Amino acid sequence: MTLRLGDTAPDFTQDSTQGPISFHDWLGQSWGLLFSHPADFTPVCTTELGRAASLKPEFDKRNVKVIGLSVDSNEDHVAWSKDIAETQGTAPNFPMLADKDRKVAQLYDMIHPEDAGTATVRSVFVIGPDKKIKLTLTYPASTGRNFDEILRVIDSLQLTAHHKLATPADWKPGDDCVITPAVSNEEAAKTFPGYREVKPYLRLTKAPANG
Ligand code: BEZ
Repeated sequence: MTLRLGDTAPDFTQDSTQGPISFHDWLGQSWGLLFSHPADFTPVCTTELGRAASLKPEFDKRNVKVIGLSVDSNEDHVAWSKDIAETQGTAPNFPMLADKDRKVAQLYDMIHPEDAGTATVRSVFVIGPDKKIKLTLTYPASTGRNFDEILRVIDSLQLTAHHKLATPADWKPGDDCVITPAVSNEEAAKTFPGYREVKPYLRLTKAPANG
């Protein structure tokens, strides 16, 4: 089943390096980042897991719970974590699902149905506190993900969850935001005083101080 933005993230219970996880209960009221990697003990994945672990303070600041997945066993995850700590400076500090039976990989369409192998692609799902899917990204096995971009999208998602704003190309926190078309000029003048009208359909305002 193809998952689309706005769908409820499928719930599941699966074993992990931190014990069995019932996904929706585990998420609670937090945002979630579920990401899969093709296999343990592989080079690109080693760098990705270390990078995700090193960003824990950034995820915590944004109230995002991180969870990894591959179809490997917990024993492999634990053994590989030592290599990640040794080579990347940080061991995974988030649970890694041991999806040996591919239950979660199939629920989230992480393995191409015609692929003879078991390797999951590099899927990314950002899930909101309402359990809805807010972002999907799919990378090939040969390309490591850009975690700065994942954080940037989370910043945009969290901003637009609280304000009638969107974020333009290459936006970064602190940059000007776009006022959404649903906002009338009257409302824009009240809510975003001093906004700039570049075109009637392109109105910019400073980023709200409270993000
Ligand atoms: C890697 O993580 O390095 C990798 C995994 C599967 C295929 C190619 C690369």
